[in-house]
Amino acid sequence: MDVFEAILKRRSIRRYLDKPVEPEKVLKCLEAARWAPSAHNSQPWHFIIVRDKSVREKLASIHPYGKHMAFSPVVIIVLADPEKSPLFWQNDVGAAIQNILLTAFSEGLGSCWIGVQFTPFEEEFKRILNIPDKFRVVCAITLGYPAHERTSTRVPLEDIVSIESYGVKLDVESFKSGKQ
Ligand SMILES: Cc1cc2nc3c(=O)[nH]c(=O)nc-3n(C[C@H](O)[C@H](O)[C@H](O)COP(=O)(O)O)c2cc1C
Repeated sequence: MDVFEAILKRRSIRRYLDKPVEPEKVLKCLEAARWAPSAHNSQPWHFIIVRDKSVREKLASIHPYGKHMAFSPVVIIVLADPEKSPLFWQNDVGAAIQNILLTAFSEGLGSCWIGVQFTPFEEEFKRILNIPDKFRVVCAITLGYPAHERTSTRVPLEDIVSIESYGVKLDVESFKSGKQ
């Protein structure tokens, strides 16, 4: 699948079929994460594959916006080691997460990024999963075959792009024709 097509068509999926995810697909998602860019190639990440239903249910029970972890056959917990990339770990790990979401989509899987970092239950995730103190729990990602279709919206390009300096509005047609 073309990368741009995956970027446009991927949506957050929160309902899943009762169908296991092939281990190769999980590994492919993590391989995609491994090849994400990171500052100084610091690779400040670690991933925990959680399949155990009782653990997923425990995590779901403490996260008010992560109830779908109980129903996705796989949850990937994304950790960051800030010591490895003190300034940029959030950026580094964000790139790895997006690689996972896009690869999952290209493999026919649904996924959802569930924020954990800075929430009151980050410590609880660490306790349940035996995560050493030095790590931050950035997010959980659900993975499973989608049981629904979703749409989403984005603000127009003109509202989020300036030309040459802040506030000079993009005019798409002028830009395309080289006038802007
Ligand atoms: C940092 C971050 C945290 C998010 N946390 C949650 C969450 O806790 N629960 C959830 O269901 N979705 C979560 N999402 C998914 C967003 O709600 C979703 O990406 C957004 O609404 C756009 O929809 P789309 O992904 O289908 O395009 C999160 C996304 C990001 C990037």
